Amino acid sequence: MQATLDSFVEENKLFVQEEFNKVFNQLDIPASLKESMLYSLEAGGKMLRPTLLIASYDAYGNDRKKVIAPALALEMIHTYSLIHDDLPAMDDDDIRRGKPTNHIAFNEATAILAGDGLLTYSFELLATDPHLTDKQKVFLISELSRSSGPKGMVAGQLLDMEAENREITLEELERIHVLKTGELIKFAIRSGAYIGNATEKQLEHLDEFAYYLGLIFQVQDDILDVTGNQDVIGKPVGSDIDNQKSTYPKLLGNKGAAQQKEKYVKLAKKSLYQANADNSYLMKLTDYFSTRNH
Ligand code: IPE
Ligand code: IPE
Ligand code: MG
Ligand code: MG
Ligand code: MG
Repeated sequence: MQATLDSFVEENKLFVQEEFNKVFNQLDIPASLKESMLYSLEAGGKMLRPTLLIASYDAYGNDRKKVIAPALALEMIHTYSLIHDDLPAMDDDDIRRGKPTNHIAFNEATAILAGDGLLTYSFELLATDPHLTDKQKVFLISELSRSSGPKGMVAGQLLDMEAENREITLEELERIHVLKTGELIKFAIRSGAYIGNATEKQLEHLDEFAYYLGLIFQVQDDILDVTGNQDVIGKPVGSDIDNQKSTYPKLLGNKGAAQQKEKYVKLAKKSLYQANADNSYLMKLTDYFSTRNH
């Protein structure tokens, strides 16, 4: 029988934290760099991307050792993206994961380098993992570099910046969200299923699922930026309005954003049935992503 979603999420978070401890304990790098990298990794992020990757793996495979490196690599890339996203040159935010942002706790140069360190070390972890085959490593490294790079998250971040202070269409907004947030979510789903030996057909349906799940995640993030509580979400409310960002609530209103999200939820679940993964935690995570309050 499946445990509740809450305990699944909590167990995976602890699992990932424990694995980070092991990796960083034996990592011989300058103390201030390690401190700054660990500061953000241990600040209390929800670890939802590794959890998603593990849920996707569990839908098809059963040797959890294989997901450690991909799960850690993904969370490191995500954390790097947040450190840089908060910098004065980008969203200029002071609070992240309920604590001062990295550049406030340290300084801007150290924050940039902590981000660079997390980004590059994630690939070293994948390349040197003892549990993955060479074929799996090549798959993971090429997928993660594409998802996080100039065809993925980095592109989305740039387009997000360029969409400040102007009106954009729903299609443009979807493209930005799919790139800046959806691509890493897609990596979580695809890589978990691939290592678990899902079929090509199942991977195709999962790609469609991941497309909608990425949109659901960022729409809810946009909604929480308007309706959330800083103490609960652990980051400033109103950052998007301050930066004149293009968001779902801005384009469609709060109610319209929620309705659009429901459309994505229906489409995501349909794809999950087609991928034979409707009995997995991916189904429950879809509802969680859509209704989360932090
Ligand atoms: C925040 O992601 C950034 C987005 C892509 C919307 P999360 O809401 O997963 O943040 P953490 O990792 O829990 O801090
Ligand atoms: C950025 O989206 C997501 C990435 C870091 C790629 P946001 O700028 O909306 O994320 P938050 O709200 O600061 O977490
Ligand atoms: Mg941003
Ligand atoms: Mg931001
Ligand atoms: Mg946001």
